[in-house]
Amino acid sequence: MLILGIESSCDDTAAAVLEAGGRLLSSIVSSQDEIHSRFGGIVPELASRRHLEAIEPIVSHALKKADITLSDINLIAATQGPGLTGSLLVGFSYAKALSYVTGIPAIGVDHMTAHLLSVFLEKPTPTFPYIALIASGGTTSLFLCLGYTDFKLLGRTRDDAAGEAFDKVARMLDLGYPGGPAVTKCAEKGNPRAHRFPRAWLEEGSLDFSFSGLKTAVFNQCQDVAAGAKEAKADICASFQEAVVEVLVAKTLRAAEQHAVGTVVLGGGVSANARLRQKMLKSCDAKGLQLFSPHPSLCTDNGAMIALAGYHQYLAIHKPLSYEADVFSRSKLE
Ligand code: KG4
Repeated sequence: MLILGIESSCDDTAAAVLEAGGRLLSSIVSSQDEIHSRFGGIVPELASRRHLEAIEPIVSHALKKADITLSDINLIAATQGPGLTGSLLVGFSYAKALSYVTGIPAIGVDHMTAHLLSVFLEKPTPTFPYIALIASGGTTSLFLCLGYTDFKLLGRTRDDAAGEAFDKVARMLDLGYPGGPAVTKCAEKGNPRAHRFPRAWLEEGSLDFSFSGLKTAVFNQCQDVAAGAKEAKADICASFQEAVVEVLVAKTLRAAEQHAVGTVVLGGGVSANARLRQKMLKSCDAKGLQLFSPHPSLCTDNGAMIALAGYHQYLAIHKPLSYEADVFSRSKLE
């Protein structure tokens, strides 16, 4: 069985062809970084227009790279939400139209479930149950994953997502877009102990997150930084990154302990962060937990994880999408 995965929830147009057994035949991602970088963030109107231009060539490229044609596909899976409505509509409507003209069943995928399962796109794979930390530009949440379609939300951000905080700090320091990689690079030469930025632990035992206080503290610190003062920026970035990473790691380990689970999985764009991976690995090792951190290209948005999640959803409910189905901006899991 071959699954075509289509993703357009935010600023990347992506398509992939996946074999039901887990073999990835192709995965193509078209980034819009160049378009949005001069604005320091995503401009929704421009994102959806670019998706419109890119969707057909990207899907065709994915089919060609897999050395198949559309008639070989058995299931079309497309992101239905959450994300930017205008962006979602492009990929989702395209998938529905493809399904309508070819008769191939289509399924709408919750982007969050795709991040929770992306770890199955490479070997070795974890066994259920596991704790998943999903940290991206739109969310920061902890889940208990009990099966391919069985997820329990344990905690979520009460304000900004971790990736959003990275992007905003990058903008404050004029480091460019996307902010995560820019802040990480700048942090390399900085001292993570230069500033003691606040960590929001919230109520005792809470698995929720909050990054708005940290963001404000960084903003106040930035007022003292002279334009172009590289050393000062590096110290702010390193100290900010350390504050985010410390909370993400501690709460993930707390979730594993509270639910007596021995496996931890990372997902979402922020999981590409090297300092997060390093600290999470060290902390998991110390507690005897097994850590699975997928390749960074599988953590950021891609069509392969949509194909995988769509396949499992289809196996579970076996109900193709109705053509009246609409996109949604909030995940049903959160
Ligand atoms: O999962 P993703 O590709 O898109 C969604 O938000 O759904 O995540 C993008 C987010 C952006 O906020 C980006 O700045 C952040 O992930 N990011 C990083 C890194 N790479 C990407 N944050 C921290 N460190 C990184 N290396």
